[in-house]
Amino acid sequence: MPFERFFIPTRVVFGKGALKKLGEEVEFLGLNPQRTAIICSPSAVSNGYVKQIKEEIKGEVEVFSGVSQEPTVENAKEILEEVRKFSPSLIVAVGGGSPLDVAKAVSAMLTNEGRLEDYIGVPEAFKNPGVPLVAVPTTAGSGSEVTPYAVLTDRERMRKAPLISHRLFPALAIDDPTLTLSMPRSVAVNSGVDAFTHAVESLLSKRAKTTSKLYSLKSAELVFKFLPRSAGNPADLKAKEEVMRGSLLGGIAISLAGAGLVHTLAHILGVLKRVPHGLANGVFLVPVLRLYGLSAKEEIEELGRAIGTGGDYQKVIEEIENWLKFLGIPQSLKELGVEKSDIPFFVEKCMEKRFLMGNLPKIPSEREVRELLQTLV
Ligand SMILES: [Fe+2]
Repeated sequence: MPFERFFIPTRVVFGKGALKKLGEEVEFLGLNPQRTAIICSPSAVSNGYVKQIKEEIKGEVEVFSGVSQEPTVENAKEILEEVRKFSPSLIVAVGGGSPLDVAKAVSAMLTNEGRLEDYIGVPEAFKNPGVPLVAVPTTAGSGSEVTPYAVLTDRERMRKAPLISHRLFPALAIDDPTLTLSMPRSVAVNSGVDAFTHAVESLLSKRAKTTSKLYSLKSAELVFKFLPRSAGNPADLKAKEEVMRGSLLGGIAISLAGAGLVHTLAHILGVLKRVPHGLANGVFLVPVLRLYGLSAKEEIEELGRAIGTGGDYQKVIEEIENWLKFLGIPQSLKELGVEKSDIPFFVEKCMEKRFLMGNLPKIPSEREVRELLQTLV
């Protein structure tokens, strides 16, 4: 590709209390809140976030709170059909990566013909702009509020079902760290590790450029420094704010440079054993960095300078391993219910994604993937 492209069309409002700016920002962007669909999981209703959003919307509001954890294509389609009956002029998604991703799929499917399945894995297949979307994350990690991706689960074919299109960028993101105060520790850790993985994988991507690296490196620095503090002190708003900033920057970084092998393996684990996405990333991050080894030496050492470990690439990987251990991320797949007999499935699914691996610092062979997995079970 001869040209470098930089396209993040989402207006971001970041900071404590930003949710109170939602109405004003919708108006500023000229969005029409006359019929607003709020898409979320049940927890966003019970913890009062939906009520707070309703106060910001001047128009008729209907709430669709049926998003499940690690949502399936079927789950997204059910919500799509309910939302279609309401015919919204605006969608507000509130919650973790799951409600945000379902809302992105719904937004695009409302204005594009065909079945949701037709768009899975086909980059840039959405021809028409979706119904404008406002993303309000309540976890700090997916970065979905500033990415062109939505990842669903296809249970039938036992695979992750990604949608990839610039039509999926939200029009507005409200990053209010006070909303992340309600995260249980496990959610804070898992989503934070997802953000850190975005930072690392985008940095090591062959598509990384000076511009994307700015985001990757700052994201890694903030998450590495503040996630242990945020996880250990649920009420530490300063730490929560910095992890959310790291998550935002990590989302921009993967939008520009893509993710990598850690995400590929994490997606397979997510489908196979329903392991939360961030946790799955945490299990694979260090083994994948070791697999890259010398092929990513310079980038890993650059990462080490950003996160303050210094040292050669092996030392940096060791420090990341210690950090993950400290956070309580499992060091083996055994703990997550993976058996030796699952390895062939893993290898096969991973190799199917080989054509997507052009941006990796090193394309692993089948044998290398198998060996990596064998060390973990
Ligand atoms: Fe991720």
